[in-house]
Amino acid sequence: MALAPVVPVVVLDDAEAAVPLAAALVAGGLPAIEVTLRTPAALEAIRRIAGEVPGAVVGAGTVVRAEDAELSLKAGARFLVSPGCTPALRAAMAGTGLPFLPGVSSASEAMALLEQGVAEMKFFPAEAAGGAPFLKALGGPLPQVRFCPTGGVTPGNAASYLALPNVGCVGGTWLTPKDAVAAGDWKRVEELARQAASLG
Ligand code: 3PG
Repeated sequence: MALAPVVPVVVLDDAEAAVPLAAALVAGGLPAIEVTLRTPAALEAIRRIAGEVPGAVVGAGTVVRAEDAELSLKAGARFLVSPGCTPALRAAMAGTGLPFLPGVSSASEAMALLEQGVAEMKFFPAEAAGGAPFLKALGGPLPQVRFCPTGGVTPGNAASYLALPNVGCVGGTWLTPKDAVAAGDWKRVEELARQAASLG
């Protein structure tokens, strides 16, 4: 959460795009990159970014099965992110020794993780679940939790999240528009990253 105000959430159909895409994000000032395990190319993309992009801190997102945690670690992921959490998934993520952000969208889910000693969480789906006002309200009874909201976060609303004391960073897919990735328009990705990095 301390690396940058924004974590790009990346969906990659082709691992060939991984290295230039990550290099553009790093050049724009966003070193922490979440590659979601939503495509067959994801683990290979993580492997390539981890091995070939200096300065990148690549993590795995959409970690929804216990076995994904270990597969991500082996591919070179340096952090793990999940949209939700179960006891088995929490144990698997903790078992890797990597930093991890399990997802929550309620006070009870956050409290269940706090009981397990986890105080850093993803807030997902952020906008649909109540947005910045929801996190502001949770900061009253649960000030010890730090959140990374994702899901519906945009350049237009990111600052309202980042202004909250219980938000460490935000995440989103807007840094890597599908058309820019398909066209290999890495200058555009770099520029979007630069604008996002200045939010911090
Ligand atoms: C996530 O997994 O964090 C979300 O898919 C991000 O969604 P977005 O497209 O709304 O940024």
